Amino acid sequence: MSRLLFPDDFLWGAATASYQIEGSPSADGKGESIWDRFSHTRGNIWNEENGDLACDHYRLYREDVRRMADLGLNAYRFSISWPRIFPQGGGKPNPEGLDFYRRLVEELHSCKIRPAVTLYHWDLPQALQDRGGWANRDTAQYFGEYAAFVFENLDLPVERWITLNEPWVSAFLGYGLGVHAPGINDFNIALQAAHNLLLGHGLAVSSFRDIERGNEPIGITLNLAPVHPASDSKADLAQAERADGFMNRWFLDPLFRGSYPQDMVELFLRSFDFAPAQEEDAGVIAAPIDFLGVNNYTRTVVRAGGSEDDFMGNPINPPGSEYTEMGWEVYPRGIYELLTRLHRDYGPLPLYITENGAAFNDELNRDGTVDDRQRISYLEGYLAEAWNALQEGVPLKGYFVWTLLDNFEWSFGYSKRFGLIYVDYPTQKRYFKNSAYWYRDVISRNGLEV
Ligand code: FCB
Repeated sequence: MSRLLFPDDFLWGAATASYQIEGSPSADGKGESIWDRFSHTRGNIWNEENGDLACDHYRLYREDVRRMADLGLNAYRFSISWPRIFPQGGGKPNPEGLDFYRRLVEELHSCKIRPAVTLYHWDLPQALQDRGGWANRDTAQYFGEYAAFVFENLDLPVERWITLNEPWVSAFLGYGLGVHAPGINDFNIALQAAHNLLLGHGLAVSSFRDIERGNEPIGITLNLAPVHPASDSKADLAQAERADGFMNRWFLDPLFRGSYPQDMVELFLRSFDFAPAQEEDAGVIAAPIDFLGVNNYTRTVVRAGGSEDDFMGNPINPPGSEYTEMGWEVYPRGIYELLTRLHRDYGPLPLYITENGAAFNDELNRDGTVDDRQRISYLEGYLAEAWNALQEGVPLKGYFVWTLLDNFEWSFGYSKRFGLIYVDYPTQKRYFKNSAYWYRDVISRNGLEV
């Protein structure tokens, strides 16, 4: 047996998102979000489900925080619902909306759990979508103003701020493929949305720097994955490079290098109605940040697609691998590859794993237990590889499991369970899965025994 110990000040957390857990969609003056609208539109969500109740966390947050304390978490990543604060996106703020998050942060502090607050985890006010949403440049401005309001008025210590969660998903699944809210299928629009999201991030960072919040750090969370070619053929290698450009570099380069990657700019100019960004935006987007949040679940393996301008390629599922309920390959080495690459190509920069986890077919036993050994082995594998990256000098500062509670998994509704805690939706009762006890032990040892 060997012990893989993590640094003394390492953050051990779990992550959630407002729409996935809160419910109470119109409580205390909350406005409609694009996810309220999208999930209530027939045909969008598995089994026609929606987030109206979700985990009822808006009402049960106190007991949920108590459970986090029972697990020994020293950090918790949650998101603020923008339409709770600005029901119409901008204009008049709703103080009762902010009060909920103030109470939540107080509760966390009373349990010595440090909050990591995400400002945008996909629930855009519908009022802004009615004016084009992220495809409209004004939305970036509104986001900057919403962020400034929160920085000024959430007047309690917040140990970490995250502007956006996974702008790639917001833009390309929401506006390009239409499988997420707002359900638009137009790649030209998705490219605009991606740019305006990045601009919104930059504007939020710049308002943060203008407001005195001590030494609180601010960053962004991206969904990133290593991309592997299906074979050593020239075509597959070139395909993997383009897929990496689309999945990873399209966001990393403007944030950390001040410009979009040239190979992808040329490709998009050939294929889409894509206008190169306004010069002055580049500086706003690349405003220095204090850390990068990394969400990683799997890797991507691609075979060359139809043409040299195909930037997605044909994803394949390598035979012999294990797959989660999402159909995602379990590939722990990927997190090592990713962290060391980020450090090499974009560092030095503190990194956090802001999401990592797996959906499996969990069953609640009669005695209230859940034997989720596949999740334990998934998490153990990824954490061991994160530890390997630390040994190579990667400044990894914390790890957040996705997710605390089983919850509303977007277009999959409640059919995918990612939680450390099992939620019995009809009764809203919570049950610790075995992985929760396992994680509690990892935290108390500050590492793994493997
Ligand atoms: C990420 C999202 C998170 C959850 C997990 C499974 O892309 O940020 O909300 O859906 O995937």
